[in-house]
Amino acid sequence: MLLKRSFCCYLFLNFVFSFSTMPIAASAFSTRVRTQEAEALLKWKKSLSGQSQYLLSSWMLSSSNITSSNTSTNSCSWEGIRCNIAGSVTGINLTSIGLRGTLHEFNFSSLPNLSSLDLHDNELFGNIPPSIFTLCNLTFINLGYNQLSGRIPPEVGNSTMLNVLSFSNNLLSGPVPSTLGNLNNLSLLYLGNNRLTGPIPPELGKLNFLSELRLNLNNLTGSIPASTGNLTGLKILSLYGNQLSGPLPREINNLTHLVLFFLSNNSISGFLPKHICHGGILEDFCASNNHFTGTVPKGLKNCTSLTRLRLDRNHLIGNISEDFGIYPVLDYIDLSYNNFHGEVSPNWGKCRLLTSLKISDNLLVGVIPPEIGGSSLLHVLDLSNNKLVGKIPYELGNLKSLFNLTLSGNSLSGEIPPGIGMLPDMAYLDLARNCLNGSIPVQLGYCLKMFYLNLSSNQLNGSIPDAIGELVSLQVALDLSRNTLSGEIPWRLGNLIKLEILDLSNNELTGPIPSTFDNLNSLRLVDVSRNDLEGPLPNNEAFLKASPEAFQGNAQLCGNHSGLTLCPSSIESQKERRISILVIMMPLVGVSIILSIVVIILYTMKSGKTKMSKEPEDSHQGNLFAIWSYDGKLVYEDIKEATEGFDNKYCIGVGGSGSVYRAELSTGQVVAVKELHTFHCFNLQNPNIFENEVKALTKIRHRNIVKLYGFCSHVERSILIYEYLERGSLAKILQDVEQAKDLDWAKRINVVKGVAKALYYLHHDCRPPIIHRDISSKNILLDRKYEAHVSDFGTARFLQLDSSNWTGLAGTYGYIAPELAYTMKVTDKCEVYSFGVLTLETIMGHHPCEIMCCLSSSSPLGSSSSSSSATLSMLPSHVQNLPFSNLLDERLPVPTPEIAEEVATIIKLGFACLNANPLLRPTMEQIYIELLARRLPSIESRHELALGQVQNQGVQEQEDKTTSMTM
Ligand SMILES: *[C@@H]1O[C@H](CO)[C@@H](O)[C@H](O)[C@H]1NC(C)=O
Ligand SMILES: *[C@@H]1O[C@H](CO)[C@@H](O)[C@H](O)[C@H]1NC(C)=O
Ligand SMILES: *[C@@H]1O[C@H](CO)[C@@H](O)[C@H](O)[C@H]1NC(C)=O
Ligand SMILES: *[C@@H]1O[C@H](CO)[C@@H](O)[C@H](O)[C@H]1NC(C)=O
Repeated sequence: MLLKRSFCCYLFLNFVFSFSTMPIAASAFSTRVRTQEAEALLKWKKSLSGQSQYLLSSWMLSSSNITSSNTSTNSCSWEGIRCNIAGSVTGINLTSIGLRGTLHEFNFSSLPNLSSLDLHDNELFGNIPPSIFTLCNLTFINLGYNQLSGRIPPEVGNSTMLNVLSFSNNLLSGPVPSTLGNLNNLSLLYLGNNRLTGPIPPELGKLNFLSELRLNLNNLTGSIPASTGNLTGLKILSLYGNQLSGPLPREINNLTHLVLFFLSNNSISGFLPKHICHGGILEDFCASNNHFTGTVPKGLKNCTSLTRLRLDRNHLIGNISEDFGIYPVLDYIDLSYNNFHGEVSPNWGKCRLLTSLKISDNLLVGVIPPEIGGSSLLHVLDLSNNKLVGKIPYELGNLKSLFNLTLSGNSLSGEIPPGIGMLPDMAYLDLARNCLNGSIPVQLGYCLKMFYLNLSSNQLNGSIPDAIGELVSLQVALDLSRNTLSGEIPWRLGNLIKLEILDLSNNELTGPIPSTFDNLNSLRLVDVSRNDLEGPLPNNEAFLKASPEAFQGNAQLCGNHSGLTLCPSSIESQKERRISILVIMMPLVGVSIILSIVVIILYTMKSGKTKMSKEPEDSHQGNLFAIWSYDGKLVYEDIKEATEGFDNKYCIGVGGSGSVYRAELSTGQVVAVKELHTFHCFNLQNPNIFENEVKALTKIRHRNIVKLYGFCSHVERSILIYEYLERGSLAKILQDVEQAKDLDWAKRINVVKGVAKALYYLHHDCRPPIIHRDISSKNILLDRKYEAHVSDFGTARFLQLDSSNWTGLAGTYGYIAPELAYTMKVTDKCEVYSFGVLTLETIMGHHPCEIMCCLSSSSPLGSSSSSSSATLSMLPSHVQNLPFSNLLDERLPVPTPEIAEEVATIIKLGFACLNANPLLRPTMEQIYIELLARRLPSIESRHELALGQVQNQGVQEQEDKTTSMTM
């Protein structure tokens, strides 16, 4: 009776208040349902980690509120909960907030009206409970981007109302359940990036309404079932990164509504589908890295809707000039590593939106058509390893956006067009192994972003232009070997302080190796063999450590090296060196020099009488600036005296922007003094920007950022005065066995946390946010207590939130995010990438290059292509297969289980930062929370902290290692 009355009441209220957004309900019946729902939610909450308790702090209900007839509070007001008009839970949406725990304690049957469950991008682990699928009203499930493991329960087929189902980016294993075929309302099915095995079940062909099917990045085997052809409404079919084999079924041609079709990185054989572009809406077709044979079907030739086409790394044949048409909206095409023949078609020049054209490693003949110069947005042009002849067309000088030109391994002749040097973004130029002659154009020295320059194995003559020494961004390699270059090596090459590989071998170079090469601090490999060089080796590690072969064939080279005779008088050469250093210091260039000097000038002009910036609140004892009482001249004289006139013996490092000295001042205080390299011809575009930048820089105050005490502008030199950090750079410590051992696990964890805190501060606490742009182990300095301090803000940028932040390439090779090389756009996510590299380097004890190479593409600029690339985000599956113990610095003892746990979190974060897709990298804020939140609940229980498989596996392996060592 009562029940019935309240039910009427409910209907009445429902009617009256149906426009109200507030949930209303008053019946005892719905109160009971609501109580049951609230209890189920609270029980789940309680099973989550300590941090999650805090995240769900709105999930609270005192017992009095449940039992009382007070209707204003129930679970409907909790974060992420949506209710129907009767106050019963219909939706749960808790995404990207870092919830950690399992779904095991979630009593789904208590939430009978649940229709939408969105928990994606959290830290959920454990199995997917089959009980979810007893909810017959469920239309939407997204559990993607967690660490769920185990099988996909076959019961999933019971939720026949499901419209959207996503379990992507988890650790799920086992087969794709065939019961999925029962979900005949399904429109989106995402199971990508898991560890699923077995074949694609033919039952999926029953999903009549499916518009997106993503099974990419799993370990699926077998061939693609013919029933796939029944999915005629399919717009997206993504199967890349599996082990699928066999030919495509003929029925695939029925999929005429496809917009995106990804098959890359499988072992599919047979022919390409004939009619996939029948609907005329195919935009992105990737079939690279398979075993496709035969010719390119006519259907693709006329597919004018294409924006992206990747057929590279197959066995395709045919005449390339006939089989491809004109694609008005094509952005990216890669046909490399096939057996195409014929000539490069002038039609490519008519693809006005083309940014990447790659047809390397085929059998192309003929000349490079000048018409290519019409494709004015081209960023990457790679025609290497074909049989092309003739000249490099001058028209390539019109490609103002070009930054990668790779024409190596052909039979091109004639001169290098000087116009290539005029391209403002040119960063990667490889013209090696051709028959180019003439001299190296001086204009190449104008490419201030040049990162890699290879002109080897040609017939170039004349001398090496001085201007090559202006390529201050050169980092990966300068290879001029195997030509007939003559004359002396220009001393200006000593400016290339970022250069890692220098090959000048097999030329006719004469004279000494310039003593300016002492400055090439980044150099790792050098080869000057088979020239006519003479005199002493430079005092440079790469030269001193090089093998004798690197010098052979130069009868008159001398020096203290196993392959050489000792020089007649070492004292004399010492003197000579000192003089040339002084000469060379002057023209060294770098972004920060312009920046700092301009600012110093502006600042000093503005502040009029004083040349010293003032440290407002310095808690250090013996306050430098109080003692100096702002007398810039006195400061400068004091520093000059302390360093005996900037003598080399006080020099503690040479960086991109200047040399750093240790100076013990008359007050007894020790500071680091950076002497800026002066810059001879900077162009001053917008002084206000520079002024603003450094003004803000002086405002930065953070425990983990090196303190700038002040700066002096002096006619002789300009200097910056920093706090002195006793232990030097992290890079230096990791290179030294003894010092690396002293930097134990706890200290390393603290270093990573310190850097994270600093970057969090720069990105999220500074207005506008600051991007450092050169995070590397060289720029992390440690104090006596091993606390990390970020240094060298020479390349830092302030993010203009309203502009596009385009920029030149800055940073250290090996730490630069792949997309930055492509887009030249600064974002905080580029920095997150560098942080990831640094993090892994700290744990591994060396740069993680071997991991990064298998994560991203082979050439640093060449293939990093578009961020939407289907084949790029391979990261997680690789990571998951890496044994944890392989990543630990072997010089340190095995960490204790507690430490191992923390190290595992750091490793996991490090990998997350290296995701090829910048959008999927965490922000510094998320990293900060992750790293520092772990402290809070650690005492409660260690189980709560278990982070899922990666980490458990890590701890497990550590324990195994410990036991085997004690045995
Ligand atoms: C219980 O309800 C009262 C009255 O609506 C409210 O003030 C109080 O915050 C509620 N308690 C909890 C724990 O939500
Ligand atoms: C859940 O919330 C997020 C963020 O507000 C939103 O993007 C997403 O679409 C929501 N999910 C559902 C199923 O409404
Ligand atoms: C499911 O939805 C239907 C209508 O969409 C509704 O009548 C029913 O009460 C809901 N709940 C359950 C448990 O079926
Ligand atoms: C749910 O699915 C399982 C396995 O597919 C099946 O055995 C069971 O009968 C189903 N339950 C219901 C209620 O349909």
